[in-house]
Amino acid sequence: MLRSLKLTVLAATIYSTTLMAQDADPQRYPLIPYPQELTAQQGEFVVGRNTNIVSANAFAGEVKQLQLLMTTFLGAKLPVSSKVGQSSIVLVQDNTIKGEEEYQLEITPARITLRARTGDGIFRGIQTLTQLVPLAGHHGTEKMKTIAFPAATIKDHPTYDYRGMHLDVARHFFSVKYVKKFLDVMALYKMNKFHWHLSDDQGWRIEIKKYPLLTEQGAWRTYNNQDSICIEKSKDNPDMALDQEHIIQRTGKTLYGGFYTQAEIKEVIAYAAARHIEIIPEIDMPGHVMAAIKAYPFLTCDSENGWGKTFSTPICPCEETTFKFAEDVFTEIAALFPSKYIHLGADEVEKTSWAKSPACEAVMKANNLKSVEELQSYFVKRMEKFFNSKGKKLIGWDEILEGGVSPTAVVMYWRSWVPKAPIEAAKNGNRVIMTPGNPLYFDGVPDRNSISNVYHFNPIPKGLTAAEAANILGAQANIWTEWIPSEKRADYMYMPRMTALAEVLWTNQPRYDHYMNRLRVSYSLLDLMGVNYRLPDLDGFAGDNVFVDKGSLNVIKPLDIMTVRYTTDGSIPSVQSPQLSGALTITKPETIKLSAFSPTGNRGDIYTLKYRQQNYLKPIDGAGLQAGLQLGMFNGAFKSATKIKSAADATVTVSNVEIPEELGKGGKPFGAKLDGFIDVPATGIYSFYLTCDDGGILYIGGEEVVNNDGWHAPVQKSGQVALEKGLHPLQVAFVEGGGGYTLKLEYSVNGSKIQPVPDSWFKRK
Ligand code: ACM
Repeated sequence: MLRSLKLTVLAATIYSTTLMAQDADPQRYPLIPYPQELTAQQGEFVVGRNTNIVSANAFAGEVKQLQLLMTTFLGAKLPVSSKVGQSSIVLVQDNTIKGEEEYQLEITPARITLRARTGDGIFRGIQTLTQLVPLAGHHGTEKMKTIAFPAATIKDHPTYDYRGMHLDVARHFFSVKYVKKFLDVMALYKMNKFHWHLSDDQGWRIEIKKYPLLTEQGAWRTYNNQDSICIEKSKDNPDMALDQEHIIQRTGKTLYGGFYTQAEIKEVIAYAAARHIEIIPEIDMPGHVMAAIKAYPFLTCDSENGWGKTFSTPICPCEETTFKFAEDVFTEIAALFPSKYIHLGADEVEKTSWAKSPACEAVMKANNLKSVEELQSYFVKRMEKFFNSKGKKLIGWDEILEGGVSPTAVVMYWRSWVPKAPIEAAKNGNRVIMTPGNPLYFDGVPDRNSISNVYHFNPIPKGLTAAEAANILGAQANIWTEWIPSEKRADYMYMPRMTALAEVLWTNQPRYDHYMNRLRVSYSLLDLMGVNYRLPDLDGFAGDNVFVDKGSLNVIKPLDIMTVRYTTDGSIPSVQSPQLSGALTITKPETIKLSAFSPTGNRGDIYTLKYRQQNYLKPIDGAGLQAGLQLGMFNGAFKSATKIKSAADATVTVSNVEIPEELGKGGKPFGAKLDGFIDVPATGIYSFYLTCDDGGILYIGGEEVVNNDGWHAPVQKSGQVALEKGLHPLQVAFVEGGGGYTLKLEYSVNGSKIQPVPDSWFKRK
């Protein structure tokens, strides 16, 4: 007995990074996040109209949520009773269970027993049940006669207490209905903190009774530059159109905007509370306040309102009238939101107006402040005292570290290019929430690598002791909405990659392949919830494709339930476009547009495939070459890989297409050129996939194969080239505009799996 137990433990250790030996069938248990412990059992528990719910009084709210779940699928509300019957779901309050959100779920053919000490735990267990509803063959609107839950024994608790999602409703506005749907999706994946970014330069979104102009004026704008660009983009992608419900006509003008009344805010807070989600409000100060300043110009030092060199004019921390305003606003915020946290923002402050202000000169002198950074700290610290007086803790973006931070403030880390910030904060004893731009800014357009990047994110930065690491509360993904003008686009941006974050923060046991299998099953539930998630990628082609005599397009689709449709006339594929079921033969240069469609008609990414004819490139004679590539580094900010200057500032040898960490550190902009040869083992059509943040271009045999140029977040682009077996000249030109960088080259040949290019293929003079 003991022996076999030891063997199981050993097996679990060996397989821990891929598929765990005991991982349950993903089809039967498509749970995300995966439970800490799950033992699959034989049989099912069948819930029908004869099933009752038996519950401790303490869980009245959770019982309602369980009834809601069953009503959704069965169309009938299960009765609550005090007695266990023939068919019962029993909720037990168990004070021996320690964790705040911990639960135990036992599903046997006889009954379901869900135990927890708290309502939090019971609610998380109900989400597990929701994901266990078998949906194969189920069609959206029709109700089920019974639900057969697969038998299992589950013991579960989260790794991190803070599992957050942020939504910016200032840049574009999102309705109460949408925020509720967002909370439903969060709850389903056991996320528990909603950071609501309620004000910014482009809009003030919450009613403040004492300052009515904040919403009367600050909630509305004529179309700004971002709106115009979104409208332009909507010609190719309808999800980029502004949601019509937020457009009004006022005194002959078309205005965009909206705000939440305090009654609506309360309604959303209650909705979140029922789903065991805490809402943390952010009112961003002293920067990002243009919308408020427009309504109340006295807030700045010099009555100016507009854009400075980098950011907008902030409010003035050197006038008591500013503090009066801020305290009045936060008094209403503190009264509305039950959370113990209030987020002050305090990011990206343009301090030039402070440096010029006589009032600030006086405040700095009186308080012995040496710099405008210390003046920012003075503002933040005063506000923290005020928050504390209301029983609240302050959260601020990591700029609050500049100029000195109080040890009790919670630091929200976002600036990927300042990697020491969370480490210093945690060592200083500050609590830290990790939201690094890469990979947790979900406003970055997702591609085929995004889910993996999120899944492999470690919330604990390197360089902390275990005691210091305990200061990392958890992590959060942020959805900034400058370029997210609609609810459908918002869904697309955060789903399904939020599910990867949910598993990192809750389970924290890497099993990526198993997770991907569970994710594939879980799309059916998202379809039912009407979530416009990003469909999984199609494979089997590159962006720029070549053929020698004739080509064959063999699209590999990741889900059987999806259909693939295409056009050849440049139009966007729709559900009416011809379906691509087999291989398509290409005999002439042409452009094909492809898209996958879910059963509900949700369209995946639009792929534009260009085909051109090419003869196999002849190899060169490679006598005397050595292993590796030559890397030239160029200091300076180059907007494009074609603009890198001619003489390198430093040259080193590398073994692959990479820039060693020590060369790119410090967040400075730079250019880089990797030169050498690629030695391909067989004649074929090679697809190359170049992932860059910022931009890069791949040349092979003197031809441009992939152009992923310009400054942007990590994104993958691909191209093809027909190569004869042997050596071909290769160059990768790369630019980084500042901040963290990504550079990766992968390949596939004749439609094989995408894989890293091995070191042994690279040669140099
Ligand atoms: C931020 O992205 N400015 C916090």
